[in-house]
Amino acid sequence: MNISFLIFGDVVGRPGREGLAKQLPVWKEAYNPDVVIANGENLAHGHGITRSTAQDLFDAGVDVITTGNHIWNHKEATDMMQDPRSMVVRPYNYPSGVPGMGYVRIERGTVKILIANFIGRVFFAEDVDDPFRGFDAFEKEVGGFDSYGAVIVDFHVEATSESRAFGFYLDGRASVMYGTHTHVPTADAQILSHGTGYMSDVGMTGLYDSVIGFDKGIIIKRFLDQVPYRFEIGDGDVEVNGLYVEIDPATRKTVVIKPLREIVS
Ligand SMILES: [Fe+2]
Ligand SMILES: [Fe+2]
Repeated sequence: MNISFLIFGDVVGRPGREGLAKQLPVWKEAYNPDVVIANGENLAHGHGITRSTAQDLFDAGVDVITTGNHIWNHKEATDMMQDPRSMVVRPYNYPSGVPGMGYVRIERGTVKILIANFIGRVFFAEDVDDPFRGFDAFEKEVGGFDSYGAVIVDFHVEATSESRAFGFYLDGRASVMYGTHTHVPTADAQILSHGTGYMSDVGMTGLYDSVIGFDKGIIIKRFLDQVPYRFEIGDGDVEVNGLYVEIDPATRKTVVIKPLREIVS
């Protein structure tokens, strides 16, 4: 029996949370996923995550929330991650000792599942640890992957080159590696030669008529004026980007990978 996952990239602000809550039941009905994962780094008005905005996702049917560089915006998020039952994770390859966890273990029936989060280094202000060697350390920390039926990796990454290189580095080790952070879906979902499902970026769930979920006028003005005007989020249709993945727990390999996209009003 395959185990199936429905995955969302960055969910941006209230429109993103509401769009996810609207579309998730439709995709649940169509695909009947065993596990739902979403990236929550932009949940709270586009920046960071709070208890109540995380709860909105859990109430909508999300099982695990991964994050990224905006995880540190609210102290609540740091507090939340201290609890191993919170099901909120931050990238594994932050320097050791920072709050939170880089992965969670969950189970579905007899199948043990790892859901891990890493962050890239290209075009980020943060000087985080090497994600590649970080993945090796993670594999060692959990005692290898042999006792697991699926290893899921959210790689929070700006450069598609870094995303693809990481995908090939994980090929045959992780079950699936998908990118988050750019908010724009890529058209390269594939199964790599050793069985790892891959997509450079799943894309966001957020305002459709926008620049990465934010008011497009303000972003254009930021480019024109080079002034860091405050990001705002308006109202309107929402693009919901997702990724459906089926994994064979006997081999830990991806057997089905299918990008999903819907515009909801
Ligand atoms: Fe983001
Ligand atoms: Fe990000």
